[in-house]
Amino acid sequence: MDYVNVNRLTKKYGDFTAVDNLSFTVKKGEIFGFLGPNGAGKTTTLNVLSTLSDFDRGEVEIAGFSLPKQEFSVKRILGLVPQEIALYTDLTARENVTLFASLYGLSGAALKSAVDEALAFVGLADEAKKRAKKMSGGQQRRLNIACGIAHGPELIIMDEPTVGVDARSRDLIMGSIRTLNERGATIIYTSHYMPEVQELADRIAIIDHGRLAAIGTEEELLSHVTDRKTLRVGVDGKGDAALIETLSRLPGVKHASLADAELRVDVDLTLPSISPIIGTLMERGLAVKSLAEEAPTLETTFLALTGNELTKEGA
Ligand SMILES: Nc1ncnc2c1ncn2[C@@H]1O[C@H](COP(=O)(O)OP(=O)(O)OP(=O)(O)O)[C@@H](O)[C@H]1O
Ligand SMILES: [Mg+2]
Repeated sequence: MDYVNVNRLTKKYGDFTAVDNLSFTVKKGEIFGFLGPNGAGKTTTLNVLSTLSDFDRGEVEIAGFSLPKQEFSVKRILGLVPQEIALYTDLTARENVTLFASLYGLSGAALKSAVDEALAFVGLADEAKKRAKKMSGGQQRRLNIACGIAHGPELIIMDEPTVGVDARSRDLIMGSIRTLNERGATIIYTSHYMPEVQELADRIAIIDHGRLAAIGTEEELLSHVTDRKTLRVGVDGKGDAALIETLSRLPGVKHASLADAELRVDVDLTLPSISPIIGTLMERGLAVKSLAEEAPTLETTFLALTGNELTKEGA
């Protein structure tokens, strides 16, 4: 039996099925990444795992405890870092962490040292006396993490822990996730930011419309897509939706998108020539400044499996 077993989980909001027959397992000691676009059902699934939400069908078992029946046993081993920052804004950083850790039963010297350690861990030792409302967005994110982990949970569930933070905070958060894992915690987390999931996660579940599209290691997921490659074309000039539409209709083109003066065109591996693509760009007065080929990434895999683009960071 794996550490986390989710079998045919279904969760509805009224008539709307947010999580649809979802099955996956997480091994003890793993960093497990959940990847999916807005509305895919990531938070809903994590809320079920963290006992915050009930569910309609399926079985959920964590560390041998079955939900919803053994909710309290699951709560005891769990730390949650929610997507919506949940802090008491009038309290200081230290007071916030102290409050959360004491809810999990820590007290006295053990509480104090756990709070100190959690604050230092997320790089907020010097801000301990600052009120949450006076902190920057990135600092609040890090404090949100400290509140979820101070009590030393063996399973940590993090929902978009790096949304809206700068590169430095992101690095800090990524480093802390790794350290928590090295110290023995099992980690389940979600992110929109593909490179982050690719870098951190031992295994990844791709979900879309509440359903599992694929699950496995990065290598296993990439092996789903063997029929295409991506052309990266640096262009000078303005592309628009009409251009993307035209390119998408060319034979052998599976998908096209444009961002930051770079055009990405997914094409069949069997495509005999890229002349029609370049020709289309030239007809529109776009100068081709560079051209490179890329093997499939998780982004292409995601697109191939779901037909949707993952929302990019900042989008
Ligand atoms: N309380 C609710 N009542 C009704 N519908 C809801 C509720 N919470 C979520 N949903 C819907 O369920 C679907 C899944 O939402 P969920 O928040 O789980 O997605 P997500 O993958 O976490 O998305 P995001 O990347 O935006 O955080 C969405 O269509 C959402 O609108
Ligand atoms: Mg979410």
